[in-house]
Amino acid sequence: MSLVSLIKGRRGASGFGYASTAEEVTAGLDLRGKNILITGVNSGLGEESARVLAMRGARILGAARSKEKASEACRAFADAVPLACELSEPASVRACVDEVRALGLGIDVLLCNAGIMALPARTLHHGQEMQFLTNHIGHFMLVTGLLGSLSEHGRVVILSSGAHAWAPPGGIQFDDLSFERGYSANRAYGQSKLANLLFARALSRRLQGTSQTANAVHPGVIATNLARHMPLGMRILMPVANVIALKSVHEGAATQCYVAVNPAVSGVTGEYFADCNVAKSSAASRDEALGERLWTVTEEIVRGLG
Ligand SMILES: NC(=O)c1ccc[n+]([C@@H]2O[C@H](COP(=O)([O-])OP(=O)(O)OC[C@H]3O[C@@H](n4cnc5c(N)ncnc54)[C@H](OP(=O)(O)O)[C@@H]3O)[C@@H](O)[C@H]2O)c1
Repeated sequence: MSLVSLIKGRRGASGFGYASTAEEVTAGLDLRGKNILITGVNSGLGEESARVLAMRGARILGAARSKEKASEACRAFADAVPLACELSEPASVRACVDEVRALGLGIDVLLCNAGIMALPARTLHHGQEMQFLTNHIGHFMLVTGLLGSLSEHGRVVILSSGAHAWAPPGGIQFDDLSFERGYSANRAYGQSKLANLLFARALSRRLQGTSQTANAVHPGVIATNLARHMPLGMRILMPVANVIALKSVHEGAATQCYVAVNPAVSGVTGEYFADCNVAKSSAASRDEALGERLWTVTEEIVRGLG
């Protein structure tokens, strides 16, 4: 048996593992009556999650950068609600929050899936490094804005990444959040993904005493549009590597769908999941003081964004 098939065949305590698909981890579930908001619904893991969760009966509130993209992505799903949510534009996120609140629906799952990776050059927008702004601040605004709409047993699922370990030494570079002193694409992506993980854990602490949960997810490594900013050679190699070793999109969407809706996870909160099981994350990601400081600093940044 090859190493690849050994890894792919491994299953954890949940009964699922590396090669489980989103369809497998949701098999037999009846999600009729559930409202599931997914950011990044038009591509990659968000698109696959929406397809499978809608197939199980959930109503999808599908968010994309523009209403047109969201509508196109939601066309196949009965009852879906397309939402414009450009995560790097605070006004767009706030408008999305208002639109969802006005629907008057209880949100059962907030699946914070959208993201960008490894911008080759330091890019600032609203004075913030673009990956931190999009991946972390945008989702922080969306989630905190919608907490009042979260249903009694609502789940917040935040896409982090194994790349959270690429964050700068010390974790979050509070004295240079935007990498003025020197930019590295991987470090900046890593910092944003560590922020996603710290946010999930800090949120879970705030939800203590309720039945609502917040968890973070590493989906695996999957050839999606996320690689669009990678060097050409890497992008050519990704689909080849995908066939040999990496996850398919069906496998890649499994962990987030598992954490979003599988009954085995109800009540589980403040965890980091990979391959559909609780996984170990970096020391920085488990540092409560760091998470609390990030929460306070993020609130200050959001206030400054007008
Ligand atoms: N693929 C992997 O190997 C991998 C590994 C670890 C973690 N992840 C995480 O998994 C998540 C999903 O990634 P993916 O692989 O499915 O990538 P993808 O195919 O590139 O999808 C990313 C989605 O995010 C959206 N998005 C990007 N910037 C946005 C913005 N400013 N506002 C609103 N939406 C925005 C994209 O919209 P447009 O299409 O309009 O740009 C797209 O719908 C990301 O958070 C990523 O960090 C992925």
